[in-house]
Amino acid sequence: MSEPEKKRSRRRRRRPPIKKAAQAAAAQKEGQAPLSGNIVLCGFMGCGKTSVGKRAAKLLGRQFCDLDSYIERKAGMTVSEIFAQEGEAGFRARETQAAEEVASMQGMVIASGGGTVLSPQNLEAFHRHGAKILFLDVPVAALQERLKNDKRRPLLQVPDRRRVIAELHKKRAPLYRAAADIVVDGGAPAIVVAKRVAQLFQ
Ligand code: S3P
Repeated sequence: MSEPEKKRSRRRRRRPPIKKAAQAAAAQKEGQAPLSGNIVLCGFMGCGKTSVGKRAAKLLGRQFCDLDSYIERKAGMTVSEIFAQEGEAGFRARETQAAEEVASMQGMVIASGGGTVLSPQNLEAFHRHGAKILFLDVPVAALQERLKNDKRRPLLQVPDRRRVIAELHKKRAPLYRAAADIVVDGGAPAIVVAKRVAQLFQ
């Protein structure tokens, strides 16, 4: 090795390791990283799909997409307005269309809605495009606490919200589990859960 080459190699060894997320982001920008499948976060309302998803996407250098926001942008209406005008069935039809569209975008972190992965058609679309589905598992008592003042979610605008959450959760928890490739403990601050998620893909 020539003197300048030795110097360069010593310099390389001393350089602190670049963070993996930054590396991934840089590689993606340069178009070097192979496009990988989507990471889809699923779980009950209030489990942190959006807040965790945004942070995990940043850590992994991926794009983030929130399915409810995508539906709202396309419809020019909020989820509440869609429920009010078209009923839950109308919302679910829009959700399935949106899931199909978003599933075909590669390399994203996607926050699904609380009911998205309960439809086999939506699950099939995500899996067909190589996604991994992660269930953010949060105990029902914590969800009841997180959702106690919610004004946004049509399914929760009911007098006995705690009971409705408990009943829905009982029905849905096994379905989230069955849909998921990986179960992640979601009972921690969003950044902590996001790091757990990011670690799985680094
Ligand atoms: C729903 C959850 C909501 C939204 C809609 C229906 C559900 O999303 O898609 O209100 O059936 O659980 P979040 O889980 O993001 O609140």
